[in-house]
Amino acid sequence: MRTVAFYSPKGGVGKTASAVNIAYLANADHCSTLLWDLDPQGAASFYLSGASRTKGKKISKLLDGRLPIADFVEEHIYPHLDLLPSHPSFRHFDIKLEDDERSNPLKTILAPLSEDTSLVILDCPPGQSRLTEYVLKVADLVYVPLVPTWLSLNSWYQFRDLVKDKKLGLKKLRPFFTLVDRRKKLHTELTSRTAELFDRPSKAMIPYSSAVERMGEAGLPLEVLSPRSQPAASYRQLWSEMKSELWS
Ligand SMILES: Nc1ncnc2c1ncn2[C@@H]1O[C@H](COP(=O)(O)OP(=O)(O)OP(=O)(O)O)[C@@H](O)[C@H]1O
Ligand SMILES: [Mg+2]
Repeated sequence: MRTVAFYSPKGGVGKTASAVNIAYLANADHCSTLLWDLDPQGAASFYLSGASRTKGKKISKLLDGRLPIADFVEEHIYPHLDLLPSHPSFRHFDIKLEDDERSNPLKTILAPLSEDTSLVILDCPPGQSRLTEYVLKVADLVYVPLVPTWLSLNSWYQFRDLVKDKKLGLKKLRPFFTLVDRRKKLHTELTSRTAELFDRPSKAMIPYSSAVERMGEAGLPLEVLSPRSQPAASYRQLWSEMKSELWS
């Protein structure tokens, strides 16, 4: 079982859109996948509302081991995709983790899945917290969406330094550009300099596109909603890269 996280300290940068589209593409590739919506706002569950039917459950029973992870999972929302939906109680995830004495509660919770699940995708909330540390430790790769602006890059370098100082796995980080608008000079300039700006960037770049915005309204991943769109092709490229890194 491999674990991939979509994380950024910044909000609204395309973490959830990416997590959902990659989860669907993994499913389409017959890779048994679990998408865990870790954000109390439940955007991943919302983006998949065309396929998902159940509501989430309180996190406390999962964290204290009263119920196994299988009880929280909605199976087969697509043939090879399961969803662990969010619940408003996920807001208290961090407080609950503070008291947890296990070395990595996320790892313990996910362990029973390892036989039937090839890939776990974590859609993380924005911000930096105890949860972030556990996510970074448990994930094999952490994809960090970045809007091509200087401020966004500044926040990326701060995050990268923190990961380095705390030894949370610098080599796992894969920054990639999202919401790329080729009409903007700065976007064109920064996206042409990825090799120079980052150590291990993803080559895929997700263009700004109204097709992605429509995912929320339709409750469907791009590959179902608009497979011929440009961002759908970019997400296929991202999945292809990810697959070869995870299983090479
Ligand atoms: N490539 C894109 N083109 C256009 N709009 C996009 C694109 N990616 C994401 N969006 C839109 O930007 C908004 C934020 O996207 P998303 O929810 O994926 O970001 P996020 O980083 O998960 O946000 P949060 O930090 O709130 O969890 C949404 O309205 C989404 O539809
Ligand atoms: Mg999100």
